[in-house]
Amino acid sequence: MEKKIAVIPGDGTGPEVVAEGIKVLNAAAGKFGFKLNYTYFNYGGENYLKTGIILPDNATEELKKFDAIFLGAIGHPDVKPGILEKGILLRLRFELDQYINLRPIKLYPGVETPLKDKGPEHIDYVVVRENTGDLYTGAGGFTLKGTPNETAIQTSIYTRFQVDRCLRYAFEYTRKRNKKKTLALCGKTNVLTFVYDLWERAFHEMGEKEYPDIKREYYNVDATCMWMVKNPEWFDVIVTGNMFGDIITDLGAITQGGMGIAAGGNINPNGVSMFEPIGGSAPKYTGKNIINPLASIAAAAMMLEHLGENKAAEAIENAVIYMTSNKMKSQNAGKMGYSTTEIGDMVVERIVK
Ligand code: IPM
Ligand code: MN
Repeated sequence: MEKKIAVIPGDGTGPEVVAEGIKVLNAAAGKFGFKLNYTYFNYGGENYLKTGIILPDNATEELKKFDAIFLGAIGHPDVKPGILEKGILLRLRFELDQYINLRPIKLYPGVETPLKDKGPEHIDYVVVRENTGDLYTGAGGFTLKGTPNETAIQTSIYTRFQVDRCLRYAFEYTRKRNKKKTLALCGKTNVLTFVYDLWERAFHEMGEKEYPDIKREYYNVDATCMWMVKNPEWFDVIVTGNMFGDIITDLGAITQGGMGIAAGGNINPNGVSMFEPIGGSAPKYTGKNIINPLASIAAAAMMLEHLGENKAAEAIENAVIYMTSNKMKSQNAGKMGYSTTEIGDMVVERIVK
């Protein structure tokens, strides 16, 4: 059956890496016998500067008609930070209720990690980041702005419903992953005695009642950061709130080789999910054909897995591993030994052969 994919190439190097992702998707579709149909949307900073429209009012209604969304990058050096992030990326996550941000932290062979004496056998876990609540809810404001007595407040908000659905996804994911069968909650119960108290109670209640086969661990977020550096091999699946998740997934990304390689999914298990390379729009590399497309290609693989095309997803991942272990000198833009398009071509060649 044909799957309908909405493509948002976005800004900066977004379109370049998306083009390689699509190339690879098409190769996988041809090889494994399924069809993908793409519709492009020009949302992003460039479009905003031209038209004044950040995201059209009907955007989410339109996007709901697709089986998945494939995103490049949103962000423009001439647009003030916060406008596009809130107005496009976060708005889509919220309005499409993509309540999971799934972030595999996996070091591929041949990829350099800043962690001393650690290799692919040590760095292979997944962060399940809640993706709709917390400080990201947007509750807060100023009083007396611009005066010496100014106050600013921004509040972390979680409902039991949000916490439970995220935990359920994480427990199910840990079970399906079937590796160490260990789910670690990353919180801050020693200080955030309301929000992470709720998370911790919900975590143990659900785990005890419904997931006795899954081992439960708890770490404060500061300690989580330490162990992600010192003993990443301890982790299997980590579940956490939106803000801590944002921070620890960037730490995780750098341990897996950085933005050239890290991919993520914004998942609504009952709706439309969106897959993206997690590096930004990288304006300084734009148009030079030197950015690493592997993160986008890995996001494409995640999308196919989500769509049930597991064999194709696996073939793409294997081709990525082939590139990192045998071909590329580095994962950094301009230092890879090949151009962006050459890497896309080589991944395709590996898949079709
Ligand atoms: C991410 C990004 C976003 C976030 C930004 C761009 C709004 O950092 O996907 O992790 O904070 O969630
Ligand atoms: Mn982030």
